[in-house]
Amino acid sequence: MGAVGQTTTGGYLERYDEALASAPMSAFGLVREWIRSDWRGLFAELRERRPILVTPAFTVVTRHADVTEVLSREEIFSVRAFGPRLDAALGGPFMLGRDATAMNWREKGLMQVMLDPGDVAGVRELAGNLADELLDAASPGGRVETVGGLFRPVALGVCAHYFGFPGPDPQTLSRWTRAVVTDGFANFHGDPEIQAASVRAGTEMIAYLRERLAEYRAAPDPPDDVFARLVRSSHVPDDRILINMAGLPLGFVESAPGAMTEAVEQLLMRPEVLAEAVEAAGDPERFDRYVWEALRFNPFFKLLPRLCERDHVLAAGTPRATPIPAGTFVLAAPASAMFDADVVPEPGEFRLDRPAHHHLFFGHGHHACLGVHPARVVVSETVRRLLLRPGVRLLPPPEGAVERALGIFPDRFVVGLGTERREG
Ligand code: HEM
Repeated sequence: MGAVGQTTTGGYLERYDEALASAPMSAFGLVREWIRSDWRGLFAELRERRPILVTPAFTVVTRHADVTEVLSREEIFSVRAFGPRLDAALGGPFMLGRDATAMNWREKGLMQVMLDPGDVAGVRELAGNLADELLDAASPGGRVETVGGLFRPVALGVCAHYFGFPGPDPQTLSRWTRAVVTDGFANFHGDPEIQAASVRAGTEMIAYLRERLAEYRAAPDPPDDVFARLVRSSHVPDDRILINMAGLPLGFVESAPGAMTEAVEQLLMRPEVLAEAVEAAGDPERFDRYVWEALRFNPFFKLLPRLCERDHVLAAGTPRATPIPAGTFVLAAPASAMFDADVVPEPGEFRLDRPAHHHLFFGHGHHACLGVHPARVVVSETVRRLLLRPGVRLLPPPEGAVERALGIFPDRFVVGLGTERREG
C-alpha cells in the first residue's frame, strides 16, 4: 500500500540552531509550531540526527526505545508535569496525577476490575447502536459533522450507559471534561483563567457525582454499570469512588473523539485503503486494524509530558546517551516512536500486520491507559458504523477541514455521506 502523506525532512535543525544562537527562548516556540504543522517531518529529522533534542525549555524524546524508557521509569520521569492540576480540579489525588504511590497501585487495580474486559462485546454493541441512531438522524442531509454529531455524543452516551455517569446533561459533562483536560494538557503557560475554569468544572463534577452516589445508595435496584459496581464494593471510601468516577470521562471524552477524528481523516485521505476498509467493514476483526494503522499516521496523543525528578542518563550505553538534569520538562513522543524504523518496519507504509506492541496510542508503563479495552472497541466500532454508510468522503476545505481547539482537540469535521457526486 502507498505511503500517502509521507513527508521529507526539512532542515529543521539548521533553522532551530540559528534561532537558538540569536534568540534562545524563541527557538523552542519554533519546535512547538513545527510539532503542530509537520510533526512527521520534524520527528523524522530528529530521530535521524538528534533523537534527544534538548532545548532551553524542554527536551523531546523521539526514538521508540527512549520513549518507552521515559514512560517506564515513573520514579525518574514523573507526571508532576501536569498531575498537580488534575489533583486541584478533583480536590484530591488521582492516579494520573501521582506516581508509584500506594493509591496508584490500589486504585488502578480496583478500576481494572470495575472495567472488566469481559464487558467489551456489550460496550461495542452500545457504541454501535448509539452511532447508528446518530447517523440515521444525520444521513438525509448528505453530510455529517462527525465530532459534534457522532464522535462526542457516542463517547458521552458510553459514559452515561456503561460508566453510569450521564452528567446533568451531555453538554454539561462535555463542558466539564473539556475544561479540566485543557488545563491539564494544553495550558502551557499556566494561564490562571484556564486553571480556575478547570477547578470550577472539577468541583461541579464531584458535587454532581456526590448526589448521584446518594441516589445509587438509595435505589432498590441500581443498573449494572461501573458506578453501581463501585458502590457495591463496600471497602472503597466515598471520596475515592467520586474521584475515580470523575476520572472516567476525563480519560475518555476528549481522547476517543480525538482518535476517531484523526483515524477517519487519515482513512479518507487514502482512497485505495478506504475502499479496502469499506470492503472489510462487515467484519470487525478485519476492519479494526485499518483504524489503528490509520491513527498511527496522526495519533491524538503525540507527546506525553513528564518532569525529570533526578539527574538521569537517558539511552545510557548507546550513542544517543544524553544526561537529563533534574527539573527538565521532558516530552516523550509516542507519535515519533511509532515511526522508528529500528522497531517498526517500513514505517511510512500503511500496513495491516503491525503487532500490538508497536502501538503506543494508549501510553506505556506505569500510566498506561486504564480504559484501553472499552476504548479500543468504542473507537473502532464508531468508525466502522460510519464507514458502513454509503459514500463517506472528504469534503473540500474549508468545510471538510478538521477544526481543532487550541490546535489539539477536534471540534468540527464535516464529511460527505450518501451517493452524491464527489465535490471539488
Ligand atoms: C474508556 C475510555 C478511557 C478511559 C476510562 C481512560 C482512562 C485513563 C486513565 C485513568 C489513565 C491514567 C492511568 C494511570 O495513571 O495509571 C489513562 C491514561 C492514558 N490514556 Fe486513557 N482512557 C480512555 C480512553 C483512551 C483513549 C481513546 C485514548 C487514545 C486513543 C487514551 C490514551 C491514553 C494515554 C496515552 C494514557 C497515558 C497518559 C500518560 O502516560 O501520560 N485513553 N487513561
